[in-house]
Amino acid sequence: MKNKIKIFLIVIIYSFPVYSDDYDRINIKTIAENCNGCHGYNGDGVGIKKSFSIRNKNYEYFINKMTEYRMKKNGNIMNRLVSVLSEEDIIGLANYYYPKN
Ligand code: HEC
Repeated sequence: MKNKIKIFLIVIIYSFPVYSDDYDRINIKTIAENCNGCHGYNGDGVGIKKSFSIRNKNYEYFINKMTEYRMKKNGNIMNRLVSVLSEEDIIGLANYYYPKN
C-alpha cells in the first residue's frame, strides 16, 4: 500500500511540466538524438564521405530547408518527421547544430 502511494506521488510530481532553460536544452538535445540516427553522430554525417551531414550546412540553410519540409506534404521521410516539430523546435535545433560563439 505504501509503495502504491509512493508511485502515485512520483507520477504526480513528474507529470508537472518544468519550465526552465535546462528543460528546453534537454528537449532539443533529445530531438537531435533522433536526427543523429540517420544524420550521424552529432549530425556530422555517416561514413567516409560524410554524406547526410547536417552540420556541414549553415543556420539559414537549415531553417529554410526544415521549414520547406514542414510545409510540403509529399510524404518524404523528412516531411513526415518535421511535421511534428514546431517553429521553435526548428530554431532550437538550428542553434544546437550551429552554435554562435
Ligand atoms: C529516417 C532517417 C532520417 C531521420 C531520423 C532524419 N532525417 Fe533528415 N534527411 C533524411 C533524408 C533521407 C534526407 C534527404 C531528403 C530529401 O531528399 O530531401 C534528409 C535531409 C535532411 C536535411 C537537408 C539536407 C540537405 O543536404 O539539404 C536536413 C537539414 C535534415 N535532414 C535535418 C534533419 C533533422 C534536424 C532531423 C531530426 C529532426 C532529421 N533530419 C531526421 C533522413 C532522415
